[in-house]
Amino acid sequence: MATTAPITLQSVFELVREDLLAIEREFGDDTASDVQVITEIGEYLRNGGGKRIRPALLLLSAKLCGYEGQGAIRLGAVVEILHTATLVHDDIIDEAQMRRGRPSTNHQWGNSRCVLAGDWLYMQAFKLAVQERNFRILDVLIDLTQRMVEGELLQLEKLGRCISLDEHLELIHRKTACLFSVAMRLGGILGGVSAEEEERLAEYGRSLGMAFQIADDVLDLTATEDVLGKPVASDLREGKVTLPVIHVLEHCSTEERQKIEAVLRERAFNGFTHSDILAMLQRYGSVDAATRRAQEYAEAARQAICIFPDSEIKRALLWVPGFVVSREK
Ligand code: IPE
Ligand code: IPE
Ligand code: MG
Ligand code: MG
Repeated sequence: MATTAPITLQSVFELVREDLLAIEREFGDDTASDVQVITEIGEYLRNGGGKRIRPALLLLSAKLCGYEGQGAIRLGAVVEILHTATLVHDDIIDEAQMRRGRPSTNHQWGNSRCVLAGDWLYMQAFKLAVQERNFRILDVLIDLTQRMVEGELLQLEKLGRCISLDEHLELIHRKTACLFSVAMRLGGILGGVSAEEEERLAEYGRSLGMAFQIADDVLDLTATEDVLGKPVASDLREGKVTLPVIHVLEHCSTEERQKIEAVLRERAFNGFTHSDILAMLQRYGSVDAATRRAQEYAEAARQAICIFPDSEIKRALLWVPGFVVSREK
């Protein structure tokens, strides 16, 4: 990538293309088992068209820190397998029908098999991580996995309720931002950077993950199913209050609030439609407010890595937060 060329998604992925392909191979080798159904589910997940944003971040972070070895490929596969395992379990919990434009695994194989396949994938990720022979890395990954599970549990407890902004931010921090943070931190650990630099990388990942989840929550309300590959407005139907909805609840009338509460309670749009809620969100500027907050997190991510010297990799990392906030899927 020439220094003056505009940065695109392709040019960013190009920087880590070979390594991402190696991660795909690693992922494939790692999700094969003697038990046919595991291999089938593993294949299905690997071919599902996931964006691979977490391993790409880990690779960029490792490169930023001057790391050259195979560990980044192994740990890139680890973070993607962990992500995949959380999606398998998440779709069971959310009773999802669709993911990545196809039937979700729970829909295809049923809950029982998918609980076990998810467990297997978690363990496979750790089996791979152990090969690094680095207790610090295991520590970080175990802490991460527990936090993500806690995030999903907290979300379950709050389903159907109008939660506060702080409660919501805590939730998305655990369920999404922690993994982004760890992907960046692992790159730093591999590169043997200073504690200060490692924290900056982790902070970049955390803020980027917050921006990513907020953008996801906005897209749930504003995008189309065709583009998103999963049904739209599913958060409300799953009883989940997200940032745009928290904003609208703070500004709307009592009558409007009751309508939203009814959707959350009944887990269905009865008489009050998706376009009604969209119109309400537009009227109170709630989509813009959520997008602004995502932009603030994106800016915090960029700020976090300002201490690193200028390079092609740093420029790519500075570009990613803006992309995440303005993405269409
Ligand atoms: C989906 O993550 C789960 C969230 C954190 C919203 P991605 O949007 O990265 O999922 P894939 O891997 O690209 O399908
Ligand atoms: C994504 O959560 C899964 C995790 C981050 C654990 P959601 O339930 O909010 O996301 P989608 O809409 O299913 O991808
Ligand atoms: Mg879900
Ligand atoms: Mg969920």
